[in-house]
Amino acid sequence: MELLLDKNKIPQHLAIIMDGNGRWAKKKGFLRSLGHENGVDALRRVATRSAELGVKFLTVYAFSTENWSRPKTEIDALMSILVSALKKEIGTLMDNNIRLNAIGDIQSLPARCRRELSEVIEKTSANEHMTLTLALSYSSKTELVSSIKQIAEEVKAGRLLPEEITEAHVAKGLYTADMPDPELLIRTSGEYRISNYMLWQIAYSELYFCPKLWPDFKEEDLDLAIVEFQQRERRYGKISEQINS
Ligand code: IPE
Ligand code: IPE
Ligand code: MG
Repeated sequence: MELLLDKNKIPQHLAIIMDGNGRWAKKKGFLRSLGHENGVDALRRVATRSAELGVKFLTVYAFSTENWSRPKTEIDALMSILVSALKKEIGTLMDNNIRLNAIGDIQSLPARCRRELSEVIEKTSANEHMTLTLALSYSSKTELVSSIKQIAEEVKAGRLLPEEITEAHVAKGLYTADMPDPELLIRTSGEYRISNYMLWQIAYSELYFCPKLWPDFKEEDLDLAIVEFQQRERRYGKISEQINS
């Protein structure tokens, strides 16, 4: 697969909905938490491979606002796995020159998660090869509402007129203000939905749905997704002849 990959057409920003940990565990007769633990291994593989290929931003959906409705035992397990993964993977991040970032309602996370997150974010802040962003307690609709509130404040203060509001104002208020929009969004586990992930940012992303459960996702599955992405014609509303002239 590597042979077919065009190293000059690697997406700058890759977004992933890492789904299927629970089903992976269930199939094997394990506790769901073991699925999440194996999900960390998949993320390590994918982050390392993405960095190697030259992806600049990798943004992964790790915990949604809606996931707070899961049983408390599962939420506790997920938060513990987050803390231990952060402690354990600092070496991987440093070795691959990856900067860690987090988006979402970080304040809603338990104190120990916030502490560990800020520590790793701080320690990796000078790394510049790739930015790995964890979307944690993330909801795209909440993110958009927050951007709209910031705009409303500007208008209220008389610094902006309603007719002056542009797409750029909305984008500037999102957590992803300093990133390009993802060119490619991958969702694993055979689900065909977006589940409140980066609704604004994926307006023109290529969508790739993979039937594999996230803990089974390997480097070659990422390569395959990128090869398919590279074969798509991104028309942005135009017709094929315009793109190719
Ligand atoms: C994705 O796997 C991880 C999180 C949502 C935290 P799931 O836990 O959703 O796994 P399935 O979809 O139940 O198999
Ligand atoms: C989306 O997966 C959120 C994450 C991967 C963190 P879910 O498993 O929560 O999504 P739904 O509920 O199936 O849409
Ligand atoms: Mg799921």
